[in-house]
Amino acid sequence: MDKRRRRQIQVTVNGQSVRREVDVRLTVADFIRHELFLTGTHLGCEHGVCGACTILVDDRAVRGCLMLAVQTDGAEIRTVESLAQGDTAHPLQEAFQDHHGLQCGYCTAGILMTLVDFLANNPTPEESELKNALSGNLCRCTGYQNIFSAAKDGAERLRIEEHSDDDIRR
Ligand code: FES
Ligand code: FES
Repeated sequence: MDKRRRRQIQVTVNGQSVRREVDVRLTVADFIRHELFLTGTHLGCEHGVCGACTILVDDRAVRGCLMLAVQTDGAEIRTVESLAQGDTAHPLQEAFQDHHGLQCGYCTAGILMTLVDFLANNPTPEESELKNALSGNLCRCTGYQNIFSAAKDGAERLRIEEHSDDDIRR
């Protein structure tokens, strides 16, 4: 094995510190799937088009197939596995379930992580803004209307949760 092609990285993944030596050509999507066995993140096109591989790196949605694992050294990564708390689904996951916002589910992790970033920065989006935010995630099953309904309702659920957390803190 050529040592020059390997680098040590340290990342925080879903709250856990991880140190690994990785091939410098390994994408972060392959790193989290094959080295950390977090297989909720999917790969579709593998060249930045479909959005299935979307994860958060330092709270921003990125395409895991376009970023190298070595580029995430020192960063905080969140994958879809971070959303549910034990048996309690994340409000966005509940909304997608209730609105049938998925069929095969292949695209869903990427859509959810895209929305986590988008709604954190724009919790009360216009419909056009929400559609635009979803436009980089391709789905071959649902026809998009249910995804949009789920995203809209999920945004509302997140706002309600945020307000109830504020009430508890008061
Ligand atoms: S697999 Fe990364 S954008 Fe399609
Ligand atoms: S639910 Fe099958 S690709 Fe989106």
